[in-house]
Amino acid sequence: MVLSLVGFLLMLQPYFVASRTNAVSHRSLSPVAEENMQLPFHRTKRFLQAAKRRQKRPATLIDEFLDQNSPLHLVFFPDATTAIDPVNGSDYYRPGNIWLDTEANPIQAHGGGILYDEISGTYYWYGEYRDVPKGWATGRVDVIGVGCYSSKDLWTWKNEGIVLAADLENQTHDLYISNVLERPRVIYNEITGMYVMWMHIDTGNYSKAAVGIAIGDSPTGPFEYLRSLRPHGRDSRDMTVFKDDDGVAYLIYSSQSNNELHIGPLTDDYLDVQVDMQRILVGQHREAPAVFKYQGTYYMITSACTGWAPNEALAHAAESIMGPWETIGDPCIGGTIMFRLAAFLSQSTFVIPLPGTPGSYVFMADRWNPAQLNDSRYVWLPLTVGDPDGRRSEFDFGFPSWPRVSIYWHQKWRLPLGWRS
Ligand SMILES: *[C@@H]1O[C@H](CO)[C@@H](O)[C@H](O)[C@H]1NC(C)=O
Ligand SMILES: *[C@@H]1O[C@H](CO)[C@@H](O)[C@H](O)[C@H]1NC(C)=O
Ligand SMILES: *[C@@H]1O[C@H](CO)[C@@H](O)[C@H](O)[C@H]1NC(C)=O
Ligand SMILES: *[C@@H]1O[C@H](CO)[C@@H](O)[C@H](O)[C@H]1NC(C)=O
Repeated sequence: MVLSLVGFLLMLQPYFVASRTNAVSHRSLSPVAEENMQLPFHRTKRFLQAAKRRQKRPATLIDEFLDQNSPLHLVFFPDATTAIDPVNGSDYYRPGNIWLDTEANPIQAHGGGILYDEISGTYYWYGEYRDVPKGWATGRVDVIGVGCYSSKDLWTWKNEGIVLAADLENQTHDLYISNVLERPRVIYNEITGMYVMWMHIDTGNYSKAAVGIAIGDSPTGPFEYLRSLRPHGRDSRDMTVFKDDDGVAYLIYSSQSNNELHIGPLTDDYLDVQVDMQRILVGQHREAPAVFKYQGTYYMITSACTGWAPNEALAHAAESIMGPWETIGDPCIGGTIMFRLAAFLSQSTFVIPLPGTPGSYVFMADRWNPAQLNDSRYVWLPLTVGDPDGRRSEFDFGFPSWPRVSIYWHQKWRLPLGWRS
């Protein structure tokens, strides 16, 4: 127990300075000095009793994370006094801290994804609005709807409201409050001029396992819900959509009871899937897919399936988006090994390309707070592809050799000035 806590303390020390500085300077994402965070490390009676009870098995970082009464709870979920407030003094992303919108309210966009709207030159962040006082007993909160925030700089976010709202009355409607709406994604269709939203739709017991589709004529909606379906006739839970450079969009979803992922192109209007589908990462039990593309190669970050508990992230790569997909390994760098193996206590949700800095991305993840889902946090970190000088290995001995995908832990960091140009 004490040893694992010491391990965690080490995580917060200035570790890994050399390679982090190296990588980010190559990629021009600004690193900043470590802060000296004070840990609440109280040897309370409860803490000592718990330590005694657990002597049979060393307590893990995950045990501490899931324990609401852990003395480390405030380290995992720092309180409002350390909230990130971009319009009032804050300069840095601080993964895990409360993040305020331009009206100083905590951002509610969990399991989110980003649309870059070329027409307005604006980023839109869509996610699960979860601010209801309900939940732990059933491990869920009522559906409120899809929250939307807009930003020009990925830093200050203006609340655009709930752009697809729950149905409060119709018990047979997919958006009825007792159902589940997760991981909304919005893409723009050039042919129809419509913004199309895909999302995971489920019943409270997750037996429906479907995707829902909604459309809007502006990024801020309001979106009109069209219907749900089981893509390719298969069960579908965690999902994402990816729009390729040629305008073809793909649905990627966990299927066969999360045993594998499926991928297939959408129809030209993005309102349905085509019949074409490939099973990928079969038997690997992955969810929370986040897809991006760099120099013609497709990449995906996923998590294992352990409910709200964090687990190890993996990166995958493919020459063709329809596969075959190969698993490269754990992309997380920095912190202690326990922290890395828990993906910095977060779960992937999206990867944002940064137009001005090729090979650099922002990795978006959720630090779920199972006992209070509305207080789940965001973990945004720099992600880079390739070795520091961007070349792939010449010595691949005939095997495909993928560039390294790296997600670097930072207590605080920011994008370089002028990153958009
Ligand atoms: C900025 O934050 C400080 C401390 O929380 C508060 O006193 C002040 O009113 C805030 N200013 C603005 C403009 O919101
Ligand atoms: C979450 O809900 C609780 C209970 O309603 C509330 O006290 C708290 O302020 C909410 N937290 C956030 C971050 O919205
Ligand atoms: C309730 O929702 C179902 C399914 O979407 C729909 O068929 C039905 O017309 C709705 N009923 C009302 C009263 O709106
Ligand atoms: C799950 O919930 C739905 C209604 O929300 C119900 O029809 C179904 O029978 C339930 N399935 C299981 C396995 O409990």
